[in-house]
Amino acid sequence: MSEKSIKVFAPASVSNIGPGFDILGFALNEPGDEIVLKKLINSQIEIASITGDGGKLPFDILKNTASVAIKSLMDKYQITDGVSIEVNKKMGLGSGLGSSAASAVGAVFALNELFELNLSKEDLLEHALAGEFVASKAIHADNVAPSLYGGIILIRGYEPIDIIKINTPKDLFCTIIYPDIEIKTSEARAILPKEVPMKSVVTQTGNIAALIYGFATENYSLISRSLKDVIVEPYRSKLITGYDEIKQAALEAGALGCSISGSGPSMFALSNSEEVANRIALETKRVVTNIGLASVTYVSEVNQVGPKILN
Ligand code: HSE
Repeated sequence: MSEKSIKVFAPASVSNIGPGFDILGFALNEPGDEIVLKKLINSQIEIASITGDGGKLPFDILKNTASVAIKSLMDKYQITDGVSIEVNKKMGLGSGLGSSAASAVGAVFALNELFELNLSKEDLLEHALAGEFVASKAIHADNVAPSLYGGIILIRGYEPIDIIKINTPKDLFCTIIYPDIEIKTSEARAILPKEVPMKSVVTQTGNIAALIYGFATENYSLISRSLKDVIVEPYRSKLITGYDEIKQAALEAGALGCSISGSGPSMFALSNSEEVANRIALETKRVVTNIGLASVTYVSEVNQVGPKILN
């Protein structure tokens, strides 16, 4: 590949992490999208190719997550060179694994490297969020921020955005079970209630606080007790065929907890060993197969680095 092009990997992510709707997320080692950027001699932004999307993603640069993120960054820094974008999707659209966030993060990370802009991740964040916005029609950073920074991320607030990286317990593993269902984030957000009973808020905030303390102190028993979502899961779990059985299989296989990854249909389970994580993958896949659905599973530690250059 010539020196005027770059290929990067940007990781998938699990957002919400149970009770932390829109404020918690972590990155995965796999899957992740690949973005290839090439400098052009003209001043156009163009999408040269998209693979792995089943023909569903737009080539219109004002509608595609990757190009919107790039345009936002180029506009802000008044970069007038042209760039062509290749998007290689390595995870399903509407998978609940932060697919659009990974493309947006990969795009701005690659541009920063290709044009030697020396921008920090803090500088890149708002542009990746602009890209994510066109796909999900909502501002939520709990996929973009983990994918960009790596690690377990808490978004304390949005105005202004305040990102806190939390300790990852050293033996923490994540199992993803991705049943072959597509759920649009915008639709999964639309079914949520506009108001929440105070009793649920009290339970949920207790669980969020304890979950973060559990991560910080590597207390797996506390993580297990607090990985519970009483606000969002009751609504969204109905969109996932076999949800209760899959979750039960994960817990019986030794999961610390199990919930919906982002807006689903992927589900995630946390455990404190690779052996248990693999067993959860096997047992949950068995349940999904019995239901009659195809599925993909992943076992991953929490990705600590975010995007990386492939060549
Ligand atoms: N926090 C967002 C949601 C993530 O649950 O709607 C979407 O991937």
